[in-house]
Amino acid sequence: MRLGLLTSGGDCAGLNAVVRAVVKRAVLGYGWEVFGIRQATHGLLSRPVDALELTPDRVGGILPTGGTLLGTTNRANPFAYPGPAGAVDRSAEIAAGYHALELDALIGVGGDGSLATLRRLAEQGDWRLIGIPKTIDNDLGHTERAIGFSTAVEVATEAVDRLHVTAASHSRVMVLEVMGRDAGHIALAAGVAGGADVILIPELPYTLDAVCAKLEERRRRGRNFSIVVVAESVRGPVGEVVKYKDAHGQARYGGIGEMIAREIALRTGAETRVTVLGHVQRGGSPTSLDRLLASAFGVYAVDLVAAGRFDRMVAWQNRRVVDVPIAEAVAQYRAVDPDDALVHTARGLGISFGDEAVPAGD
Ligand code: F6P
Repeated sequence: MRLGLLTSGGDCAGLNAVVRAVVKRAVLGYGWEVFGIRQATHGLLSRPVDALELTPDRVGGILPTGGTLLGTTNRANPFAYPGPAGAVDRSAEIAAGYHALELDALIGVGGDGSLATLRRLAEQGDWRLIGIPKTIDNDLGHTERAIGFSTAVEVATEAVDRLHVTAASHSRVMVLEVMGRDAGHIALAAGVAGGADVILIPELPYTLDAVCAKLEERRRRGRNFSIVVVAESVRGPVGEVVKYKDAHGQARYGGIGEMIAREIALRTGAETRVTVLGHVQRGGSPTSLDRLLASAFGVYAVDLVAAGRFDRMVAWQNRRVVDVPIAEAVAQYRAVDPDDALVHTARGLGISFGDEAVPAGD
């Protein structure tokens, strides 16, 4: 059996842990060969295919490391591949790369976009595919956790801790903008774990009146500082999407933290500062939880191949690994449920989501 393995989409902590788990299970457990494909589906375009044989020796020591040994990309869509004369469909070449490498099955580690693309390629190219969910955004359907989320939350929580001290020293309102794409999972978890005063997430529309009322209430209680955690996809004060265009003309989230901080300063007179956490949430050594998840997912994915059960994604449900159809997982976007237990916990702690009714005259 020749097994292919690739990591696709934005990187996150825990990818090397999953590479290691797949290799150990496949090579030591089943006596198979494993080929790691470089730079996601990019590697399948090259001839010869850009791949390296992964042995237990080759993956020794990578468990605690960040990034991905295989490289990745979140920019090349095989069906609209960037070329000098515009986008071209290179899906047939990529699909053929699987057969050029004489693979019997492929394990793809990715988020919703990557897994949907890989599934389309698998259908077109007659691949046998298994998916493993990874995304710091934790927004994939049918899995309570994806690889990388725990580490991103850990990094964001540490940032909240650090901001508390400097906020208190200077009597400031500190605004922390965190990633998460269209979901507020990172902001919610890090905000609760770090003891933020206000958490703004896209799933719970806020008003600046409610945000400022919370900050004023703290001031009246003698608290001279506050911490506001904002998810990057939160809308602006008049409901606008806050994005900017990068050098390639792609729209990206960014800037809502600055907007919120400016409004808070204007309305309350508080001195505000903004921290945009950015890609530090994706780098660094994975937490123990991400290592455990990656290890469990990697082993289970190889066992699915051995059982001949394809077109499945491994998933975490009720404290165990299960498998679900890839199509179902990518079709169901998992935003924060406004009724989520963690939302209730936050409210119980007095954390504001900026959606509370503000008493007249406040
Ligand atoms: O999906 C992961 C993620 O880190 C999002 O949270 C963020 O919006 C985006 O990717 C950033 O993408 P890039 O690495 O292309 O800047």
